Amino acid sequence: MTSLADIRSTFLNYFEKQGHQIVASSPLVPRNDPTLMFTNSGMVQFKNCFTGVETRDYQRATTAQKCVRAGGKHNDLDNVGYTARHHTFFEMLGNFSFGDYFKSEAIPFAWELVTKEFGVDPKRLLTTVYHTDDEAFEIWKKVGVPEDRIIRIDTSDNFWQMGPTGPCGPCTEIFYDHGDHIWGGPPGSPEEDGDRFIEIWNVVFMQNEQFEDGSMRALDMQSIDTGMGLERIAALLQGSHDNYQTDLFKALIEASAHATNTDPFGDQNVHHRVISDHLRSTSFLIAEGVLPSNEGRGYVLRRIMRRAMRHAHLLGAKDPVMHKLVPALVQQMGAAYPELGQGQRLIEETLLNEEVRFKQTLERGLKLLDDELSDLPDGDALPGAAAFKLYDTYGFPLDLTQDALREKGRTVDTDGFDAAMAEQKAKARAAWSGIGEAADSAIWFDLAEQDGTTDFLGYDTLNAEGQIVGLVAGGELVDSADADVQIVLNQTPFYAEAGGQVGDAGILRTETGVAEITDTKKVAGVYIHFAKVTEGTITKGQGATLEVGVDRRSAIQANHSATHLLNEALREVLGDHIAQRGSLNAPDRLRFDFSHTKALTSEEIAQVERDVNAIIRQNTTVETRIMTPDDARALGAQALFGEKYGDEVRVVSMGRQDGSGKGLSGDTYSLELCGGTHVKQLGEIGAFVALGDSASSAGVRRIEALTGQAALDYLREQDKQLTEAAAVLKAPASELAARVKALMDERKALSNEVAQLRREVAMGGGAKEAAPTEVINGVAFQAQVLQGVTGKDLPALIDEMKAQMESGAVLLIADAGGKAAVAVGVTKDMTDRVSAVDILRAVTPELGGKGGGGRPDMAQGGGASAENAEAAISAAKSVLEGLK
Ligand code: ALA
Repeated sequence: MTSLADIRSTFLNYFEKQGHQIVASSPLVPRNDPTLMFTNSGMVQFKNCFTGVETRDYQRATTAQKCVRAGGKHNDLDNVGYTARHHTFFEMLGNFSFGDYFKSEAIPFAWELVTKEFGVDPKRLLTTVYHTDDEAFEIWKKVGVPEDRIIRIDTSDNFWQMGPTGPCGPCTEIFYDHGDHIWGGPPGSPEEDGDRFIEIWNVVFMQNEQFEDGSMRALDMQSIDTGMGLERIAALLQGSHDNYQTDLFKALIEASAHATNTDPFGDQNVHHRVISDHLRSTSFLIAEGVLPSNEGRGYVLRRIMRRAMRHAHLLGAKDPVMHKLVPALVQQMGAAYPELGQGQRLIEETLLNEEVRFKQTLERGLKLLDDELSDLPDGDALPGAAAFKLYDTYGFPLDLTQDALREKGRTVDTDGFDAAMAEQKAKARAAWSGIGEAADSAIWFDLAEQDGTTDFLGYDTLNAEGQIVGLVAGGELVDSADADVQIVLNQTPFYAEAGGQVGDAGILRTETGVAEITDTKKVAGVYIHFAKVTEGTITKGQGATLEVGVDRRSAIQANHSATHLLNEALREVLGDHIAQRGSLNAPDRLRFDFSHTKALTSEEIAQVERDVNAIIRQNTTVETRIMTPDDARALGAQALFGEKYGDEVRVVSMGRQDGSGKGLSGDTYSLELCGGTHVKQLGEIGAFVALGDSASSAGVRRIEALTGQAALDYLREQDKQLTEAAAVLKAPASELAARVKALMDERKALSNEVAQLRREVAMGGGAKEAAPTEVINGVAFQAQVLQGVTGKDLPALIDEMKAQMESGAVLLIADAGGKAAVAVGVTKDMTDRVSAVDILRAVTPELGGKGGGGRPDMAQGGGASAENAEAAISAAKSVLEGLK
């Protein structure tokens, strides 16, 4: 039997021999197209090669491309399980020519490969061409297809478009007739939807480009885009009309039957088909980093997952099933797609969490559905309000409800559903009391309602394309802008400020202009890019390429990841009472506020710093998972106190810690609820330096820190200062502290000595000739006018004089060139008779000063000049003379 793997390589090798470059599959989340939800065909990664915007170093390429068709123009979700040939995920084999060969080669290539390499009986084949395409008709005749087997089709079936815009063109298709034992008619006939005639290959003659306004232009060059569904050709070559009978699907269906203990091919086969198909699309999406959510791609993923889970439930499964099937998928497809094996753990955990969670409401939802239906007259559609309740309260995506009703031949009133949804949104909007100016916020809510919220791509990529859905300047919606403007796109890699992480900055380019984005914020799920158009103009509706400033974002991420490690290190060093009270993750630094009442000792800070750096050096991979807040808390994840979390959270885990038994893998160092972006490997943080701690508010301490190059720059600068200081001291840096200490001691001794000498000089030179003492009213009194001393020197001199005199009062007037300083001292035994303050108050007015003050034993003041020193001394004596 020819396996899928063989067919894939036969195809690629055939075209390689025809001069084609084998190119790897591009991701399912398109990097180069803002209008597409998922890569839906092989040509997506080459879109710009057809329009001439991009050139590669080859003109012929061949690929096996991962595709998901579960949303947008090409959506096969509703058919899965009910036909033999539809999938949400499939592989498209294709060959491409970019302005190289055209119809006359593309058709014979296809024919030769199918009939010779794959050995398909030509008598079973028929082809279609676009009704006006005589050229293709003639080429088919030439390769040997009889005229009655070349069918002209005048519908869009033979005009291929990737999406609402982009390259497109007429196409020709090859069909295989599985025989009259299967119901169905040839293409173009009323029975064409049956499984008998199956399209196996589509060859598109890329010659036009479609624009949003409906217009179309002829492309400068003529190109070829082809697509052959691997699963379909495999079915055919394995002798079946049914893709689900191929080697790969049989293995998956058997795994599903085994896990649910049911018969793989009996009545329950439809459920196994859905499960096996959905297992592939969900696993590949999760492997690429798409995680279930209530918005955008994440919601499509959730819809597919939950649909599969309902079918598992219908099989009677009591326990979660989907995650058990992942090993079978990895075994089948892991060799061709290594991302499956690499992501296996994440895929299994995500499927398990979602299924555990959905099971909590699934049964009650199904019961509600049954109750509603039993009250409903035959043939009536399920009211929109009921479908909305199932959606809102029980987590039933609309299409899951439709799928459940389909088995019963019923439908949903989708208008009623939309109305209920709109009403809920209006309520949310009325209840919103967020940041920003009220007038402004209405605009963001309007945008969210009209165009949906913004899909954030920036966990995995820093470059992406987006479509401009709204421009706001001066608080008003505008159609185009050439200066300051706020830009909203359908998707973006720019992180919007949240959780302490600042918003991204970077560049946006459209065909007509360039804008510099300085900040990004979000309101109501709408990402607002604060920008200034620096070249040309930008216009609503345009496609734009978005580039997040890499260095800035890397620095922010390093700081953010380091903040998580710091949080944990603080808990380890200081205790479990540490809780985050706030944080800032900017490009140049990080700041972390936490509950703790005491200042940290330098040893504590050093220990925290050592711990953080030790974990950084482990260089383990940072892992992210989505789960319910309760599950996350049960695992011990750190959550922000008082923060309101949605019904699902991202849990970021980093680092290993031996033996703590904590975390998802048992020994995770840090586990936090966090929507921010992080480094992939801890080593990217580089280094961590704590700048010390300070008080932020009562009971809250703040640590600021640096990482990466900023940390190294800081240390380098510190080192430079140290080296300079050491050079000045002519000492090695290691001796600096001791040398500075010695110098300080020496300085103190010298300054004491200087002060002593100055006093001696002031008091009349080394002779220490005492001022003459008078006794007034029984109080000994000495007064002296000094040169060359300042007010600062006086108290020591007063003390010295008091000590020599033993009992009495002393007055010193310093003549300090244009100013006078005065001090008065009274020995303790005399202070009850006279206060130094009273004497001082009598003295200073004579010197042109006023007041001054002190204690009864010592008072100080000043004056404008010492000219009237004699009068001042007399005033002091008068005070003593006046004593009783
Ligand atoms: N792009 C074409 C298709 O998807 C080949 O059918």
